Formats: sequence, C-alpha cells, structure tokens
Amino acid sequence: MPTSEPPGAAPADRHVVLVGMMGAGKSTVGRALAARLGREFADTDELVEEATKLTVREIFETEGEDEFRRLEGVLLHHALAVRAQGVIGCGGGIVTHEGARHLLRDGRGFVVWLRADPATLAARLEGVGDRPLLDGDAEGNLRRIGAERAVWYDEVADLVVDVDGLEADDVVDAIAEVLRS
Ligand code: S3P
Repeated sequence: MPTSEPPGAAPADRHVVLVGMMGAGKSTVGRALAARLGREFADTDELVEEATKLTVREIFETEGEDEFRRLEGVLLHHALAVRAQGVIGCGGGIVTHEGARHLLRDGRGFVVWLRADPATLAARLEGVGDRPLLDGDAEGNLRRIGAERAVWYDEVADLVVDVDGLEADDVVDAIAEVLRS
C-alpha cells in the first residue's frame, strides 16, 4: 500500500529525489542527507543490481541500455510508491525515459538536480570504470550527455543546487534548509 503523501504535499513530507549527471554526488549527498533527516536512502542503480543480480555494466552489455532504462523506471516507481518518505538517488540517465520523467513530476518526490560542470564530474570520476557510457573520452562524453539531458533535469527539478566547489555537507545543508522553509 502506498505510504507516501499525495501530490501537493509540502517538500518535507515528500521523498527527496536526487537527479543529475554521473559524478554529481547523488549517492554521497543522498546518504548524508538521509542520515541528517533520519530517513532511509535508496539508490536506483543498487536497486536494479539487487533485483537482477547483475551489475549495471553487465545489464548494459547483455540486455542493452533500453532494458536498463526500463528497469530503473520500474524500481523508481516502486521506491516512490511503497517506501516511507526517504531519500532516493537516481541513476544519471533516468530522465532520458519519458515514463520516469512523468514519475519524477507526479508530486511524490521533491526533486533536486545536483548540477555540475563536466570538468568537475570528470575529475571526480577519474579512474572509475563502472560507467559504460563513459568508456573512451569520459570528459567529452560527460559534456555531450550533460548538454543533451539538461532540459530534462530542468523539467523535473523542484530545486537546483550548483555543486561545483561544494563539499557534500554543503549540499546537504542547502537542501535541508529548503526542506525546513
Ligand atoms: C548512467 C548513470 C549511472 C548508471 C549507468 C548510466 C547514466 O548512475 O545508472 O551507468 O546514463 O548517466 P550514476 O549517475 O549513479 O553514476
């Protein structure tokens, strides 16, 4: 049975949903924010991996990106519907799927776009090999993909936090302050 508040609830009574590019800090900030708010944290990549017993890279390689997008949409839907108000970190590409964008706009989540410059993202992800979309020219790919997705992040976001130069705690402070107001 759904436990989340109906659409229109105050931000503090909704799930906090973090979106943004790979390397924007969704998992780090999400865990710290959840601890600060006394909530549970869920990460859609981890939910997909738990459900399939495959890594994200394995799903991309064996099932393809479209199947991964379908799965992350299903698990976002589940997290929004059956969990008590929590903090949900979304895989960076969740906004590419129209159904997921619809979910993100339906009012059950207070959606925060962690926005970052591609150079910041590339520096944070240097040496990390588990993002199939970054194989090859990681910074170039981040720049191109980020530009393609910006309109979608903007479309779903209730709040935008520019995270360049900020520590995770600063980002948590910024979000927590908006939730309190
Ligand atoms: C992706 C982001 C990744 C993961 C997958 C695809 C993307 O999640 O879902 O590699 O398309 O931006 P993070 O944003 O948590 O790195």
